[in-house]
Amino acid sequence: MSKVIGIIAGSLRKESFSKKIAKALLSMVPQGFVFEIISIGELPIYNQDFDDHNNVPESYVKFRDEIKNIDGIIFVTPEHNRSIPAALKNALDVASRPAGKNSWDGKTGAVFSNSPGNLSAFGANHHIRQCFVFLNILTMQQPEVYLPHIDKVWDENGNLKDEDTKAFLQKAVEAYIEWFKKIKGE
Ligand SMILES: Cc1cc2nc3c(=O)[nH]c(=O)nc-3n(C[C@H](O)[C@H](O)[C@H](O)COP(=O)(O)O)c2cc1C
Repeated sequence: MSKVIGIIAGSLRKESFSKKIAKALLSMVPQGFVFEIISIGELPIYNQDFDDHNNVPESYVKFRDEIKNIDGIIFVTPEHNRSIPAALKNALDVASRPAGKNSWDGKTGAVFSNSPGNLSAFGANHHIRQCFVFLNILTMQQPEVYLPHIDKVWDENGNLKDEDTKAFLQKAVEAYIEWFKKIKGE
């Protein structure tokens, strides 16, 4: 059976570059795998009262199930104030709870960070890895995937036109799949 790799874009913006990267990754799926974009835009800000008082939003139930059912996860994150956007941190929090039921546990992850600037969201890329330690998301270390000047790589229809970026992403996906197979003993 195909292995399912979730892709989460850490931005809610309609014209988000991160969402466009996530979409571009769909065409790079290797044989034996399914790539699936998982949305984080419908999740209310995490409030423990939801879990403690049996009042869990339907969007949480759906999201937690989606995370439980994937084999691996690629995070495509922009940077907000040298960290990850609040919406992405919220998604990490939502699926980490209720206590003792961490849906992220043992997933094999990768981080692809991007920015219109030249620092490529380095801060966000490394901040999210701190969360992964506690969430027990096993993370590909190499290659590190930093995408600078991400506003410059699209055509007028929002498709990836820059060949260097395309090739770099393709290599990153291949490395992730190789690493995934190694970790899973396949
Ligand atoms: C609140 C906020 C904070 C930001 N902070 C950073 C930052 O620390 N580093 C950076 O490179 N870009 C920063 N930016 C610019 C984002 O990189 C840019 O808006 C980018 O397009 C957001 O990603 P998206 O296209 O996926 O929505 C910030 C943008 C916002 C709205």
